[in-house]
Amino acid sequence: MPPRRMNNHILPRPRRALRPEDEMAVDQKEIKKATLTIGERILELPLITGTEGELGIDIRKLRPETDGIMVNGHPVKGGVITYDPGYKNTGACISQITYINGEEGIMRYRGYNIDELALKQYRFIDVAMLIIFGELPNTTERENFRELLTNFELVDEGMRKFFDSLPPNADPMAILSAAIQCSSLYNPELRAIDPADDEDFTLAAAKLLSKVRTIAAFSYKYSIGQPIMYPNPELDYCSNFLHMMFSIPNKMHIASNMAVDALNLFLMLHADHEQNCSTSTVRMVGSTKANLFDSVSSGISSLSGPLHGGANVEVIKLLQRVNSKETTIEQLIDDAKNKKIRLPGFGHRIYKNYDPRAKIIKQTVHKLLQEFNQEDPLLEIAYTLEEIALTDDYFKAKKLYPNVDFYSGLMLRAIGIPLNMFTVMFAISRMAGWIAQWREEMLADPAIQRPRQIYTGPVERKI
Ligand code: CMC
Repeated sequence: MPPRRMNNHILPRPRRALRPEDEMAVDQKEIKKATLTIGERILELPLITGTEGELGIDIRKLRPETDGIMVNGHPVKGGVITYDPGYKNTGACISQITYINGEEGIMRYRGYNIDELALKQYRFIDVAMLIIFGELPNTTERENFRELLTNFELVDEGMRKFFDSLPPNADPMAILSAAIQCSSLYNPELRAIDPADDEDFTLAAAKLLSKVRTIAAFSYKYSIGQPIMYPNPELDYCSNFLHMMFSIPNKMHIASNMAVDALNLFLMLHADHEQNCSTSTVRMVGSTKANLFDSVSSGISSLSGPLHGGANVEVIKLLQRVNSKETTIEQLIDDAKNKKIRLPGFGHRIYKNYDPRAKIIKQTVHKLLQEFNQEDPLLEIAYTLEEIALTDDYFKAKKLYPNVDFYSGLMLRAIGIPLNMFTVMFAISRMAGWIAQWREEMLADPAIQRPRQIYTGPVERKI
């Protein structure tokens, strides 16, 4: 079906990202400058304040303004740079999408607390629209966007050759990353969208959000050698995904409302998380003016790592090892304290308090299992592990709390999602955030992202 053209009244207009010249319009309170002394040079650097009072030192002029200054009797060639491996203290952009206060365990999409969005039972599509377009949709906007998602839910039949070429048991996450790029080759217009054009962008966003779900389910079906199931246009986003995952040609799977609600919640809670590693990857690739599909495909690869989206798989494997008596909780805690392992599902770069997503998921897993009349021995092990860790001095001193991945795998297990699809589920959800963040990066018109380094290799030598 050809893409349906839209007028601007039926969908929200995506919110314009801040441009560099807007930065100075951000409220600056009394203190406007930081003072930095390097050798004999005193520099005044402007401060940038965010709407929640976050404060940043604007170092954009640091290098040119320190070019040639004398330090320890030597001129600094080119100027001084900052050193911050892992970017623990570095703000790479100004963003209007997600706010996190890691000290207090707060997370908001476009100003709305995720607890409230979860409590009011918003659906993933509402939240994806909020993140991408800047506002929660009204009924007409939601219905129009749903119609677009339905129109775009198929992938080109030519993609079957791509899937057919894969080895058996191929990792669905690797398939997803390659297949997203491959799918854009069948829609070349998507590889050249103008991010400033609301209509182009909205169509691309809808195609990506819709197709990622189909491709994810197809990846699973191919990985287990079952025939693929085509999407059903009568079903909503989550029911349709569960149908494509679990129906077989001679037996339709009808997902329960509880499973659909839980999946909606899972997708909603993972939809964006400001400048995490995969989102920063998407923005970095996008800063080269790479197209949306190539940029998010890199994001999927970044998300796959066990320190990032892959952590919920590691949590389940670890709980299974305890359950099969291969190890004990005490042993795991000792190994974590002795730096033999990093306890998956614990600790976070931003949260130094309970991850608010983990709190919601923990409550939901318990209810879900009760309502399904199921028992999962891994849940009891997780509770005990959490209890012991939270009272342990090492974990307390380092402020290591359960993060979203600690309970999310248990939630996916309760819905029936297989282990090798856990990170793929995260990617389906995070697609909303990547799309919004890619556009924000493109419209801010920044310089190509290109960090510097402190070189510590050999000085010039002769062969
Ligand atoms: N188990 C044991 N010790 C830990 C852990 C852990 N899970 N996480 C951090 N630490 C220790 C770490 O060894 C370090 O100790 P020291 O001060 O003695 O060197 C201290 O805590 C600070 O750690 P860090 O490396 O500075 O923290 P980071 O911000 O660089 O890393 C993290 C954050 C999430 C990568 C890390 O906590 C970790 O590896 N956690 C386990 C993997 C995990 O659950 N990842 C999912 C993150 S949430 C979903 C997502 O965003 O993708």
